[in-house]
Amino acid sequence: MALIDYFLRRPEFDIFQMTGDHLPDVARIHGVLFKPAWSASAFYSLLSQDSVSGFVARQNNSSGGSAMGGFVLTRSAGGEAEILTVGVDPRYGRAGLGWRLMQAAVGRARQDGAETMFLEVDQANVAALALYRRLGFRKVGERKAYYKPSAQDASPGGADILRLDL
Ligand SMILES: CC(C)(COP(=O)(O)OP(=O)(O)OC[C@H]1O[C@@H](n2cnc3c(N)ncnc32)[C@H](O)[C@@H]1OP(=O)(O)O)[C@@H](O)C(=O)NCCC(=O)NCCS
Repeated sequence: MALIDYFLRRPEFDIFQMTGDHLPDVARIHGVLFKPAWSASAFYSLLSQDSVSGFVARQNNSSGGSAMGGFVLTRSAGGEAEILTVGVDPRYGRAGLGWRLMQAAVGRARQDGAETMFLEVDQANVAALALYRRLGFRKVGERKAYYKPSAQDASPGGADILRLDL
C-alpha cells in the first residue's frame, strides 16, 4: 500500500518542527539543491516571521544518527498557505521524506486555518511535479520564463502554479 510505505522506507527518519538549531543543515542541503542557495541567516529571517513555519526530516534518537534528510518551509496567512521551499538530500531521495514533509506542511496549514495551499514549480521538475500530483495539487496557472536559464540552457523555463484545496 503506497501511502503507508512512505513511512517504512526510511523508518530512522522522523518529521520535526524546524527550529534555529536545524538551520545550518537546512541551508547546506538547500545549497546542494538550489541556485542561488539560501543562507542559514536567510532561513532564520523567514522562520522568525509569525506566518512562517517549517519542518525537517531528521534521523531519530533510536537510529543512533542525527542526519538531516530534508526540509519544508511554509507561509500561511489570510486563509492561504504557500510552500516557500522544500527539498530532500539526494542521498535520501525517493524514500518518502518529501511526501512526509509535505504532509506535515499541509497539516500545519490546516491548523493555521488555511483553506488553500499554493506553490510554484519549474515545469521541467519531473520529481516535484509527480510528488505534488500525488498529494492532490492541481495546476491553476503558469508563468512563462520564470526560471533563469543555466549557462547550458538557452530557453528559460516556465513555472506551473499549483493549488491544493485543504
Ligand atoms: C521533489 C523532492 C522534494 C521529492 O522528494 P523525495 O523525498 O525524493 O520524494 P518521495 O520519496 O517522497 O516521493 C513521493 C512520490 O513523489 C513522486 N516522485 C518523487 N521523486 C520522483 C522522481 N524522481 N521521478 C518521478 N516521481 C517522483 C513519486 O510518485 C513518489 O512516490 P513513489 O516513490 O512511490 O513512486 C526531491 O526530489 C527534491 O528535493 N528535489 C530537489 C528540490 C526540488 O525540486 N524541490 C521542489 C521545488 S518546487
